[in-house]
Amino acid sequence: MDKLIIEGGEPLRGTVPISGAKNAALPLLMATIVAPGEHRLANLPELADVESMLSLLGRIGCPSLIGPIVRIDTSRVAWCEAPYDLVRKMRASVLALGPLLARCGEAHVSLPGGCAIGVRPIDQHLKGLEALGCTFRMENGYVHGKVDQLRGAEMRLDMPTVTGTENILMAAVLADGHTVIDNAAAEPEVEELGAFLNALGAKVEGAGTPTIRIQGVTSLAPPTRPWSILPDRIETGTYLVAAAITGGDITCENARAGDLVAVLNILEQAGCTVERGEDSIRVARTGPILPVDITTAPHPGFPTDMQAQLMALLSLAGGDSRIRETIFENRFMHVAELLRLGARIDINLNLATVHGVRGLQGATVMATDLRASASLVLAGLAAQGRTEILRIYHLDRGYEKLAEKLSAVGARVRRGEEGRPG
Ligand code: EPU
Repeated sequence: MDKLIIEGGEPLRGTVPISGAKNAALPLLMATIVAPGEHRLANLPELADVESMLSLLGRIGCPSLIGPIVRIDTSRVAWCEAPYDLVRKMRASVLALGPLLARCGEAHVSLPGGCAIGVRPIDQHLKGLEALGCTFRMENGYVHGKVDQLRGAEMRLDMPTVTGTENILMAAVLADGHTVIDNAAAEPEVEELGAFLNALGAKVEGAGTPTIRIQGVTSLAPPTRPWSILPDRIETGTYLVAAAITGGDITCENARAGDLVAVLNILEQAGCTVERGEDSIRVARTGPILPVDITTAPHPGFPTDMQAQLMALLSLAGGDSRIRETIFENRFMHVAELLRLGARIDINLNLATVHGVRGLQGATVMATDLRASASLVLAGLAAQGRTEILRIYHLDRGYEKLAEKLSAVGARVRRGEEGRPG
């Protein structure tokens, strides 16, 4: 297993090119199922999760050809199953449910189970798909879904679940009649999926807002031009925090400030200079880090996927910050590891109080999930001395060429092998 070795303490300066968004790429890959033919996707990030999704497509009979433009042939779907060995690696495989039901009238998807950040049930996915006429039974760890004819329906989700909204949306585009999803997730990745489905011939309005209206159509086809995936706002935010935490100056290129309003506001409150360009964002810090209070919330609120990274930053603030996590019940796994680097953080249920310290010191730490790992990298970049981060396969799931991109802005970082001195 690989580890990441960081010699911290260098201010990072320069430009980072931002990759395509993981959480947009995954639903888009599944959405190709609803439109038989050859799809071409550009700016698909090279990530373990994307590979897993392409393997899932391969398993159901849709081969892909990798290159700068990835080609996926969904002319034929031979099986409608997302097996456990793939779902357990990546929860987002549950996104096969809606598209397979729409394409084949049946779907057999292994239940994702819990994960490091919480229980993460899929009741809202099922509730929405049931409203469209699907029936489900659970057996042997699988959810087996069936439908004769998808029918449009009006529904209200109990919470604005991102992949739940996406699953329902991908089925509703081929339903007979009109569907309204209220209290839908409004994340930019949902908006992107709506736009992609429209490029396939669907009639989706309001994706990216809490109310999505869909007029079902009878068939969909791949777009004539390659579709380019939107930039990853969480990757962008992570590099901007790298500038902030090291007292550096980083410009993220191919980045959309409009998708990161809440994060950029917090960075300003924390004492950073933020420049919002047309398709770039620059963050620099020269003064001290100021304490800030943060509460995670669905988009356009502060994203839970940036909570751990901001906690790393605020661990070096000149005072106490409070971070409240409202989306996932167990997303403070990074705290115990940040403490090993010298941070002072108390947790009371979903509230973390971060008492700023003067400096962090390098140590060996263990990554527990993707964004927790990112926060450890950031803390390691600011810490004095050497930090070794174990289990970095989590990072490979969500950050394309992390070590290369960090090195290019002056970080002393390299990969090594666990169990071997670096
Ligand atoms: N929830 C339910 N029932 C459901 C669905 C969700 O109770 O049927 C709960 C969840 O347990 C959670 C909350 O609702 O407490 C929100 O979960 P959501 O369904 O929105 O999360 P997700 O769709 O499983 C996506 C991202 C996550 C990101 C969350 C929140 C993808 C592939 N994943 O997950 O990304 O944290 O939305 O924004 O889009 C990551 O990239 O590191 C990551 C975890």
